[in-house]
Amino acid sequence: MVAIAPDLSQAFAQLLAARRSTRRLRSGPLPQGLCDALVAASRMVPSAFDSQPWQVVMLHERNTAFWDTVEEAIAARLVGERRERYLRRAANFREGVLTLLVFEDLSRSGPRDALSEAEAGDQTSQSLGMLQLALWLTLSSSGLAASLQHWHAFLEDAALAFCGLPPEGYRLVALMPVGYEAESPSERAAGPSRVAFERFVS
Ligand SMILES: Cc1cc2nc3c(=O)[nH]c(=O)nc-3n(C[C@H](O)[C@H](O)[C@H](O)COP(=O)(O)O)c2cc1C
Repeated sequence: MVAIAPDLSQAFAQLLAARRSTRRLRSGPLPQGLCDALVAASRMVPSAFDSQPWQVVMLHERNTAFWDTVEEAIAARLVGERRERYLRRAANFREGVLTLLVFEDLSRSGPRDALSEAEAGDQTSQSLGMLQLALWLTLSSSGLAASLQHWHAFLEDAALAFCGLPPEGYRLVALMPVGYEAESPSERAAGPSRVAFERFVS
Protein backbone atom coordinates (compact mmCIF):
# COMPACT_ATOMS: atom_id res chain seq x y z
CA MET A 1 0.00 0.00 0.00
CA VAL A 2 1.42 3.36 -0.98
CA ALA A 3 1.24 6.00 1.77
CA ILE A 4 -0.80 9.03 0.71
CA ALA A 5 0.61 12.36 1.88
CA PRO A 6 -1.91 14.60 3.70
CA ASP A 7 -1.57 17.30 1.05
CA LEU A 8 -2.40 14.69 -1.59
CA SER A 9 -5.63 13.68 0.13
CA GLN A 10 -6.54 17.37 0.37
CA ALA A 11 -5.75 17.80 -3.33
CA PHE A 12 -7.97 14.83 -4.13
CA ALA A 13 -10.87 16.33 -2.18
CA GLN A 14 -10.39 19.59 -4.12
CA LEU A 15 -10.33 17.69 -7.39
CA LEU A 16 -13.60 15.91 -6.54
CA ALA A 17 -15.18 19.27 -5.73
CA ALA A 18 -13.83 20.87 -8.93
CA ARG A 19 -15.44 18.27 -11.20
CA ARG A 20 -18.81 19.57 -12.34
CA SER A 21 -21.06 19.08 -15.35
CA THR A 22 -20.34 21.95 -17.73
CA ARG A 23 -22.65 22.19 -20.72
CA ARG A 24 -21.30 25.33 -22.35
CA LEU A 25 -17.72 25.12 -23.60
CA ARG A 26 -15.19 27.34 -25.26
CA SER A 27 -12.06 26.38 -27.14
CA GLY A 28 -8.44 26.76 -26.05
CA PRO A 29 -5.19 24.85 -26.14
CA LEU A 30 -5.06 21.08 -25.80
CA PRO A 31 -3.04 20.68 -22.57
CA GLN A 32 0.31 19.05 -23.17
CA GLY A 33 0.36 15.43 -22.07
CA LEU A 34 -3.42 15.21 -21.69
CA CYS A 35 -3.83 12.24 -24.03
CA ASP A 36 -1.13 10.29 -22.19
CA ALA A 37 -2.73 11.20 -18.86
CA LEU A 38 -6.12 9.91 -20.05
CA VAL A 39 -4.57 6.66 -21.28
CA ALA A 40 -2.69 6.25 -17.98
CA ALA A 41 -5.87 6.93 -15.98
CA SER A 42 -7.82 4.31 -17.95
CA ARG A 43 -5.15 1.74 -17.10
CA MET A 44 -5.59 2.36 -13.34
CA VAL A 45 -9.36 1.85 -13.37
CA PRO A 46 -10.78 -1.19 -11.58
CA SER A 47 -13.14 -3.37 -13.65
CA ALA A 48 -14.94 -6.65 -12.97
CA PHE A 49 -12.53 -9.55 -13.68
CA ASP A 50 -10.11 -6.83 -14.86
CA SER A 51 -12.06 -7.09 -18.12
CA GLN A 52 -11.62 -3.40 -19.08
CA PRO A 53 -14.76 -3.62 -21.24
CA TRP A 54 -14.26 -0.29 -23.02
CA GLN A 55 -12.90 1.45 -26.05
CA VAL A 56 -12.42 5.19 -25.74
CA VAL A 57 -11.99 7.37 -28.83
CA MET A 58 -10.57 10.89 -28.34
CA LEU A 59 -11.51 13.30 -31.10
CA HIS A 60 -9.50 16.48 -31.51
CA GLU A 61 -8.59 17.13 -35.15
CA ARG A 62 -11.92 15.69 -36.29
CA ASN A 63 -13.89 17.27 -33.44
CA THR A 64 -15.67 19.83 -35.62
CA ALA A 65 -16.50 17.17 -38.22
CA PHE A 66 -17.93 15.01 -35.42
CA TRP A 67 -20.21 17.81 -34.21
CA ASP A 68 -21.38 18.36 -37.82
CA THR A 69 -22.40 14.69 -37.80
CA VAL A 70 -24.13 15.09 -34.42
CA GLU A 71 -26.10 18.11 -35.65
CA GLU A 72 -27.14 16.25 -38.81
CA ALA A 73 -28.39 13.33 -36.69
CA ILE A 74 -30.34 15.66 -34.37
CA ALA A 75 -31.88 17.55 -37.30
CA ALA A 76 -32.86 14.34 -39.09
CA ARG A 77 -34.10 12.29 -36.14
CA LEU A 78 -35.57 14.55 -33.48
CA VAL A 79 -38.62 16.76 -33.76
CA GLY A 80 -40.17 19.85 -32.19
CA GLU A 81 -38.93 21.37 -28.94
CA ARG A 82 -36.59 18.44 -28.27
CA ARG A 83 -34.88 18.96 -31.63
CA GLU A 84 -34.32 22.67 -30.90
CA ARG A 85 -33.09 21.96 -27.36
CA TYR A 86 -30.55 19.36 -28.53
CA LEU A 87 -29.36 21.61 -31.37
CA ARG A 88 -28.75 24.40 -28.84
CA ARG A 89 -26.89 21.99 -26.60
CA ALA A 90 -24.75 20.70 -29.49
CA ALA A 91 -23.89 24.29 -30.44
CA ASN A 92 -22.58 24.80 -26.89
CA PHE A 93 -20.44 21.66 -27.10
CA ARG A 94 -18.94 22.05 -30.57
CA GLU A 95 -16.81 25.01 -29.44
CA GLY A 96 -14.86 22.73 -27.09
CA VAL A 97 -11.39 21.26 -27.45
CA LEU A 98 -12.12 17.59 -27.85
CA THR A 99 -14.76 14.91 -27.42
CA LEU A 100 -14.30 11.58 -25.72
CA LEU A 101 -16.54 8.81 -27.00
CA VAL A 102 -16.87 5.92 -24.57
CA PHE A 103 -17.89 2.60 -26.12
CA GLU A 104 -18.54 -0.76 -24.51
CA ASP A 105 -16.38 -3.45 -26.12
CA LEU A 106 -18.84 -6.35 -26.39
CA SER A 107 -16.04 -8.88 -26.82
CA ARG A 108 -14.91 -8.09 -23.26
CA SER A 109 -18.21 -7.61 -21.46
CA GLY A 110 -20.05 -10.96 -21.72
CA PRO A 111 -20.94 -13.17 -18.71
CA ARG A 112 -18.09 -14.95 -16.94
CA ASP A 113 -17.83 -17.23 -13.95
CA ALA A 114 -21.49 -18.36 -14.06
CA LEU A 115 -22.87 -14.80 -13.97
CA SER A 116 -26.24 -14.27 -15.63
CA GLU A 117 -26.53 -11.84 -18.55
CA ALA A 118 -28.15 -9.32 -16.20
CA GLU A 119 -25.42 -9.65 -13.56
CA ALA A 120 -22.68 -9.32 -16.18
CA GLY A 121 -24.44 -6.26 -17.63
CA ASP A 122 -24.62 -4.73 -14.18
CA GLN A 123 -20.90 -5.31 -13.57
CA THR A 124 -20.06 -3.90 -16.98
CA SER A 125 -22.07 -0.74 -16.23
CA GLN A 126 -20.27 -0.33 -12.93
CA SER A 127 -16.86 -0.79 -14.58
CA LEU A 128 -17.75 1.76 -17.25
CA GLY A 129 -18.88 4.19 -14.53
CA MET A 130 -15.50 3.86 -12.82
CA LEU A 131 -13.78 4.59 -16.13
CA GLN A 132 -15.86 7.68 -16.81
CA LEU A 133 -15.18 9.18 -13.39
CA ALA A 134 -11.44 8.52 -13.77
CA LEU A 135 -11.42 10.23 -17.19
CA TRP A 136 -13.52 13.14 -15.88
CA LEU A 137 -11.24 13.72 -12.87
CA THR A 138 -8.20 13.59 -15.14
CA LEU A 139 -9.77 16.29 -17.32
CA SER A 140 -10.61 18.39 -14.24
CA SER A 141 -7.03 18.07 -13.01
CA SER A 142 -5.90 19.61 -16.34
CA GLY A 143 -8.24 22.58 -15.96
CA LEU A 144 -10.75 21.28 -18.49
CA ALA A 145 -14.51 21.10 -18.15
CA ALA A 146 -16.75 18.29 -19.39
CA SER A 147 -20.11 16.62 -19.06
CA LEU A 148 -21.64 13.23 -19.78
CA GLN A 149 -24.20 12.96 -22.56
CA HIS A 150 -26.23 9.85 -23.28
CA TRP A 151 -27.39 10.34 -26.83
CA HIS A 152 -27.30 6.74 -28.08
CA ALA A 153 -30.95 6.72 -29.14
CA PHE A 154 -30.29 8.97 -32.12
CA LEU A 155 -26.51 8.91 -32.39
CA GLU A 156 -25.16 5.41 -31.81
CA ASP A 157 -24.93 4.24 -35.43
CA ALA A 158 -23.50 7.58 -36.62
CA ALA A 159 -20.90 7.63 -33.80
CA LEU A 160 -19.83 4.04 -34.52
CA ALA A 161 -19.49 4.78 -38.24
CA PHE A 162 -17.57 8.01 -37.52
CA CYS A 163 -15.06 6.05 -35.41
CA GLY A 164 -14.89 3.07 -37.80
CA LEU A 165 -16.19 0.63 -35.19
CA PRO A 166 -18.50 -2.27 -36.19
CA PRO A 167 -21.98 -2.15 -34.57
CA GLU A 168 -21.85 -5.87 -33.76
CA GLY A 169 -18.74 -5.33 -31.61
CA TYR A 170 -19.38 -2.05 -29.78
CA ARG A 171 -22.11 -0.05 -28.09
CA LEU A 172 -22.02 3.69 -27.47
CA VAL A 173 -22.02 4.33 -23.70
CA ALA A 174 -21.55 8.10 -23.44
CA LEU A 175 -20.15 11.22 -25.04
CA MET A 176 -17.94 13.55 -23.07
CA PRO A 177 -17.70 16.97 -24.76
CA VAL A 178 -14.57 18.60 -23.31
CA GLY A 179 -13.32 22.17 -23.34
CA TYR A 180 -12.82 25.27 -21.25
CA GLU A 181 -15.65 26.40 -19.02
CA ALA A 182 -17.92 29.03 -20.63
CA GLU A 183 -20.50 29.05 -17.81
CA SER A 184 -20.26 28.98 -14.04
CA PRO A 185 -21.43 25.79 -12.38
CA SER A 186 -24.81 25.88 -10.63
CA GLU A 187 -25.03 25.48 -6.86
CA ARG A 188 -24.70 21.86 -5.84
CA ALA A 189 -28.03 20.34 -4.81
CA ALA A 190 -28.41 20.58 -1.03
CA GLY A 191 -29.78 17.72 1.03
CA PRO A 192 -28.94 15.22 3.70
CA SER A 193 -25.98 12.91 3.19
CA ARG A 194 -27.05 9.47 2.02
CA VAL A 195 -24.01 7.88 3.57
CA ALA A 196 -24.75 6.55 7.05
CA PHE A 197 -22.14 5.57 9.61
CA GLU A 198 -23.33 2.48 11.49
CA ARG A 199 -26.80 4.01 11.73
CA PHE A 200 -28.61 0.90 10.51
CA VAL A 201 -26.61 -1.62 12.55
CA SER A 202 -28.79 -3.09 15.32
C1 LIG B 1 -24.89 7.87 -15.29
C2 LIG B 1 -25.01 9.36 -15.53
C3 LIG B 1 -25.73 9.81 -16.62
C4 LIG B 1 -25.79 11.20 -16.89
N1 LIG B 1 -26.38 11.62 -18.05
C5 LIG B 1 -26.36 12.93 -18.36
C6 LIG B 1 -26.87 13.36 -19.63
O1 LIG B 1 -27.31 12.58 -20.47
N2 LIG B 1 -26.82 14.70 -19.89
C7 LIG B 1 -26.32 15.61 -19.00
O2 LIG B 1 -26.28 16.81 -19.29
N3 LIG B 1 -25.82 15.21 -17.79
C8 LIG B 1 -25.82 13.89 -17.46
N4 LIG B 1 -25.29 13.46 -16.27
C9 LIG B 1 -24.75 14.46 -15.31
C10 LIG B 1 -25.66 14.68 -14.10
O3 LIG B 1 -26.83 15.36 -14.45
C11 LIG B 1 -24.83 15.47 -13.05
O4 LIG B 1 -23.68 14.71 -12.72
C12 LIG B 1 -25.60 15.79 -11.81
O5 LIG B 1 -26.67 16.67 -12.08
C13 LIG B 1 -24.70 16.46 -10.73
O6 LIG B 1 -24.07 17.63 -11.23
P1 LIG B 1 -22.48 17.79 -11.29
O7 LIG B 1 -21.96 16.75 -12.28
O8 LIG B 1 -22.22 19.18 -11.76
O9 LIG B 1 -21.92 17.51 -9.92
C14 LIG B 1 -25.20 12.11 -16.00
C15 LIG B 1 -24.50 11.64 -14.87
C16 LIG B 1 -24.37 10.27 -14.67
C17 LIG B 1 -23.53 9.78 -13.50
